[in-house]
Parts: sequence; structure tokens; C-alpha cells
Amino acid sequence: MIQIVYISTARGDTRTERGNILMTSRRNNDRDGISGLLYDDGKRFLQVLEGEVGIVEAAFARIKTDPRHRAVVILSRREIEAREFGDWAMASLSPGVEANDVMVRVGRLVARASANVRATFESFAQVRAAA
Ligand SMILES: Cc1cc2nc3c(=O)[nH]c(=O)nc-3n(C[C@H](O)[C@H](O)[C@H](O)COP(=O)(O)O)c2cc1C
Repeated sequence: MIQIVYISTARGDTRTERGNILMTSRRNNDRDGISGLLYDDGKRFLQVLEGEVGIVEAAFARIKTDPRHRAVVILSRREIEAREFGDWAMASLSPGVEANDVMVRVGRLVARASANVRATFESFAQVRAAA
């Protein structure tokens, strides 16, 4: 299995599209055996996708070209033995106490990434914590 973590910038207000995105994601991911998390704060998305390699790659290829966001940057891409977010076809979070806990968890996922990538994630998480 693989796990991909990326961030992106929404083209509009994420809250307008959140419901539609989650509905499609849960339907497809449930069918495809993909689990993960989608965090959004109105301006940016952070998503974790995990599952079988080819299936996750195909989903990510679709997601990357989705006009509802741009500037997709992969923070981490690694092989995994076990799922981190196995309970959810796509959990949804927005800023708040619970989200801060999850950000700490996601921070661990990108801990082994390059300094550059970690810095990108950390600046994202800090801005979100302050929001
Ligand atoms: C931020 C973001 C996250 C998305 N996450 C997923 C996802 O986890 N799974 C998925 O199938 N589609 C996701 N999508 C939607 C895809 O880009 C695409 O619209 C969808 O997979 C097409 O599915 P359909 O052919 O069944 O309509 C996401 C889109 C955005 C903008």
C-alpha cells in the first residue's frame, strides 16, 4: 500500500465545494478501498490518501487535475504496512481542537520528508492553528 499527503490551494471558497467533494470521495473511495482524511480551512486543502498503489495513483491523478483547486504539492509519498486513517473512506476536518490533534498526527507522517517539505507542512499547520 502507499500513502500520499498533499496540500493545495482552493480556487474558490472550500466550504462551497466541501459537501460535493466529500460525497464523491466517500462513494469512490469506499468502492476503491481508499482511506484518508480531507482537511480544509476555507482557502486550502490538506489530504491524506492511502490504499493499493495503482488505485491511489489513479485517484490522485484525477484529483490533481480537478479545477476546484490548484498548486497541488505532495508533502509525502511512502509505502505503508498499515493504514493511519483506516476507519474513514474520507474523514473531514476543519480548523478546531480536534483538527489540531490530527495535524500533529499528520506531522508525524511527513516527519521523514525533506526539510523543505516539512517546512511547507509546518507553515501550513501553524497558520491553521492560528486561524
Ligand atoms: C481537494 C479535493 C479532494 C478530492 N478527493 C477525492 C477523493 O479522495 N476521492 C475521489 O474519488 N475523488 C476526490 N476528489 C474529486 C476528484 O477530483 C474527481 O472529481 C472525482 O474523483 C471524479 O469522480 P466521478 O468520476 O465518480 O464523478 C477530490 C477533489 C478535490 C478538489
